[in-house]
Amino acid sequence: MKTILMAAMAALAFAGPAVAQSSVVNVYSYREPGLIQPLLDRFTEETQIRTNVLFAGDGLLERVAAEGELSPADVVLTVDIGNLVGAKEAGLTQPITTPAVEERLPAAFRDVDKEWVALSLRARVFYVSKDRVSETALTYEDIAGPEWKGRICTRAGDHAYNIGLIANRIAAWGLDETRTWLAAVRDNLAFAPTGNDRAQVKAILEGSCDLAIGNTYYMGLMLNNDAEPEQKEWAAAARIIYPDTDGDGTQVNVAGALIAKYAPNPANANKLIEFLLSDEAQALYANGNYEFPAVAGAPVDPLIASWGALNPSKVTLAETAAHRDEAAALVDELRFNEGPQN
Ligand SMILES: [Fe+2]
Repeated sequence: MKTILMAAMAALAFAGPAVAQSSVVNVYSYREPGLIQPLLDRFTEETQIRTNVLFAGDGLLERVAAEGELSPADVVLTVDIGNLVGAKEAGLTQPITTPAVEERLPAAFRDVDKEWVALSLRARVFYVSKDRVSETALTYEDIAGPEWKGRICTRAGDHAYNIGLIANRIAAWGLDETRTWLAAVRDNLAFAPTGNDRAQVKAILEGSCDLAIGNTYYMGLMLNNDAEPEQKEWAAAARIIYPDTDGDGTQVNVAGALIAKYAPNPANANKLIEFLLSDEAQALYANGNYEFPAVAGAPVDPLIASWGALNPSKVTLAETAAHRDEAAALVDELRFNEGPQN
């Protein structure tokens, strides 16, 4: 298991058995320190509850499972609906009791048993060439049409982001229609899937594809990437179209939070969740990575707002998650990652 500890474990009060402390909450975070720490600092200012944070890019939920009843984890911050639903199914969660969950979040963005909550949304969208694409609206069906032959690019079909998109289509259309669609999209690819979401936008600038499938926040991250300014040029070559925005809506995924089943400080964990759902925290959390707040009416970054209003898919996150295995099987069956076959 590839676990990258981004904070010195020695600095954490995690040693020994988990003992409840009145003024502490322990956070396991897949999300980056730069995004999370300012929020936790504000939380401590407001509540006097200290936070201990373990950052890792991978393996934190496995760690919670392995630690069992002795786990010090109170709150886990993670991305992808598959991780949130998987944690619930694995019995790693407990119901979140703060009334803020129901008061602040639409039903679509929280678990039916309140075992997890969404904190922000990212949409999987079409990045299109400003020069070579004239369309201002596109549906998912549209990109399966013959006019897109040799013009589409995307990362690997079995990456969690594309599995989420394909699972969303299975939930909306059923398996057979999604198979037909995905085969047509595969045959419209400009080249076999390679690279990450940003690499596809680079391919638009280079003229090797006209429409890339990618997550919204990469537009913000690329446009503001002072460390790698060439990414600003990639992003400037493209504009965003929200697929199916006038119809059933655009597929979204989430970053979210859960309270661990054996959390030693559940009351403080609930206070942290309540804080994360406040307008102030929602703006900090979402805008920090160019995402959309999960709480309706929370302030949206002007750059994000400039891409247009997001109309999230009518298919719930839980329904989408339920079709992830079928989506993965379809990617294999169609040999999507080998690129066009017709
Ligand atoms: Fe990402």
